[in-house]
Amino acid sequence: MCGIVGYIGKKQAAPILLDGLSKLEYRGYDSAGMAVYDGSRIQIQKAAGRLKVLDEQTHGGAAMPGTIGIGHTRWATHGAPSDDNAHPHYNQDETIAVVHNGIIENYLKLRRKLEAKGCTFRSQTDTEVVAMLLGYYYKGDPLEAIVKVMHRVEGSYALGILFADHPDVVYSVRKDSPLIVGQSAQGCFCASDVPAVLKYTREVYFIQNEEIAVLSEEKIVFYNIDGEEIEKEAKTIEWDINAAEKGGYAHFMLKEMNEQPKTVSDTLNPRLKDGRIVIEELGMSDEEIRALRKIHITACGSAYHAGITGKYVFEGLARIPVEVDLASEFRYRDPIIEENTLVIIISQSGETADSLAALREAKKRGALTLGIVNVVGSSIAREADRVMYTLAGPEIAVATTKAYTAQLIALYLLAMKFAQIRGRLSDDACAGMIKDLKAIPAQIQMLLANKEDIQRFANRYLAARDIFFIGRGIDHAISLEGSLKLKEISYIHSEAYAAGELKHGTISLIEEGTLVTAVVTQEDLYKKAISNIVEVRTRGAFVMAVTNEDNTQIEKTADYVIYIPKTNRYFTNSLAIIPLQLFSYYVSVGKGLDVDKPRNLAKSVTVE
Ligand code: M6R
Repeated sequence: MCGIVGYIGKKQAAPILLDGLSKLEYRGYDSAGMAVYDGSRIQIQKAAGRLKVLDEQTHGGAAMPGTIGIGHTRWATHGAPSDDNAHPHYNQDETIAVVHNGIIENYLKLRRKLEAKGCTFRSQTDTEVVAMLLGYYYKGDPLEAIVKVMHRVEGSYALGILFADHPDVVYSVRKDSPLIVGQSAQGCFCASDVPAVLKYTREVYFIQNEEIAVLSEEKIVFYNIDGEEIEKEAKTIEWDINAAEKGGYAHFMLKEMNEQPKTVSDTLNPRLKDGRIVIEELGMSDEEIRALRKIHITACGSAYHAGITGKYVFEGLARIPVEVDLASEFRYRDPIIEENTLVIIISQSGETADSLAALREAKKRGALTLGIVNVVGSSIAREADRVMYTLAGPEIAVATTKAYTAQLIALYLLAMKFAQIRGRLSDDACAGMIKDLKAIPAQIQMLLANKEDIQRFANRYLAARDIFFIGRGIDHAISLEGSLKLKEISYIHSEAYAAGELKHGTISLIEEGTLVTAVVTQEDLYKKAISNIVEVRTRGAFVMAVTNEDNTQIEKTADYVIYIPKTNRYFTNSLAIIPLQLFSYYVSVGKGLDVDKPRNLAKSVTVE
């Protein structure tokens, strides 16, 4: 996690760095810092807390003169959030400054060696080792020192580096942490992600592993790990800068929830041609699809929850056995990958360390890999054999909403396509499902319009200690996501349980007034779900049910009911999740919490 930026050009660097960091704060926000060459030395300012602390400390950057600098916004791994541990970090004699996103795995060993050679460390971070090591190897040629460091450090890094001896160049380097660079009339930039530079340029270079970019005022030169110059091609960023701004909404999460009718359409429509599902990027022949014996889906967090829904849809429609794994488990569990296996990796950012490692593991074991990814050009998108983009646009709020609902659409389309090719879904049935898919955006819009009711209801639960979610089948998958959404932004303890499983232990936690959210969208399971609702109500629970509009019978059992419009049984997640997103959002707002940047979290989890 963490966000890095770098700038060299004609303008004062610090305000530009602050602006860039503000677009990267989603990557980490426990401390921030900048290093600027002021004409005689590298000056560093850094502070624990949100970026605004640094902004105030430097008067919006005005207090830091100089036209070349690097900046950082941190999500602490090694060393608590503090002024000392905030980046940038100096080498011993303060002639080199470094910002870093990633983890240096062998930092302790290196630190001991450097200490033995007389280095005095000022922080507990792994990053400071890089700065000290650069100082140790530097003999007048920065590139040579960088290459030596790259050979010594193990782990992941995107680095921005300043050398006081070379005050006209920013060096940036990458291995397994995202890094882009770009050039405009104002100068050259490096950053962890595109939004930080979008104000200045749409032409960006995606730095690959073990590549070095050397930025001067007029040009960018690229090198490989052997210090040899290489050519790279710029990519044009299509999306609008407004997509990464709040656009009048109180929070990015609110804006992104409201974008879902569009992002669902954007993900769906390009794959529907003349009433047929066409997924060109899949690149699998009908024979290959028919030969598939198994699908593994692996992902983290909400993307994993989308994967669980995917399992029900693939198995139900295409009758292909599916295993869903948390990526952090998959990579270490020695998975059995046989012939004709497809491994699907789902990730909004395309940079999640465990998901990326799971992808590499799957490839190593001979599987065909497909990334369902939102961020164009991200590591998973590049490394997977095939990539199917969710076209949700930039997602800034830490709590995912629009990327999740776009992932569901991608999974439905794949499952339907596979089912058709394997002779499990007739053309007529498929046409009916496509009609239902096309109705989803308007149905989401309708559900979003109900926000006032949900806000009123949410306000009753601001002081809740525990909130439970129950559901069966796909409804369990929806419950898992509803529960995660709630706990990550409201800090209320919550658990999602397969409804039938609650009585095997967890039901002992239900007390008078405990809120239990029952998701009941699978008609064949209505009766079973009702029994489970009765069980918790008997123990004092207050039950909010999310169910289909025709299931009005539920009002006899549940205390508060939210109806979702009619859709195919496999698509109910796309609708039932909307009130649950709104509920979590309004609980968080009602508690006065930082909705977009919940404590201890970061948007992009690029560490294990
Ligand atoms: O970028 P990814 O989709 O790989 O991220 C996976 C999870 O970190 C992410 O879904 C996380 O659980 C969200 N904060 C949930 O809202």
